Amino acid sequence: MEFKNSDKLLKIFYEEHIHTDEEIRFVLEGSGYLDVRDKEDKWIRIEVTPGDLLILPAGIYHRFTLDTKNYIKAMRLFVGVPVWTPHNQPADDMDARKEYVKRQKEGFSEE
Ligand code: LAC
Ligand code: NI
Repeated sequence: MEFKNSDKLLKIFYEEHIHTDEEIRFVLEGSGYLDVRDKEDKWIRIEVTPGDLLILPAGIYHRFTLDTKNYIKAMRLFVGVPVWTPHNQPADDMDARKEYVKRQKEGFSEE
């Protein structure tokens, strides 16, 4: 996955969304910002640079954008069948979201 500011993908990724599977990305080149919602629904901005391995749990609201360098190249990794469909906020009725909220309340224990 490689993209620059002009791409349609950027617009899609900057819409707040969830996935039904983990989002696993390994950053190869360039940089950008991954925003995730905290418990109070405030954004936490994470700067991502080459060598970073990002693993977001299924059901967490997030979005992604580039920085002023306008370039990132990342590898998408999957456990089993590749699923990367974004479901835009609000997606509170989805099982993946409900499960995430439940785990957030109960604490994220190891499985
Ligand atoms: C994705 C990231 C960028 O869905 O959120 O691929
Ligand atoms: Ni995503």
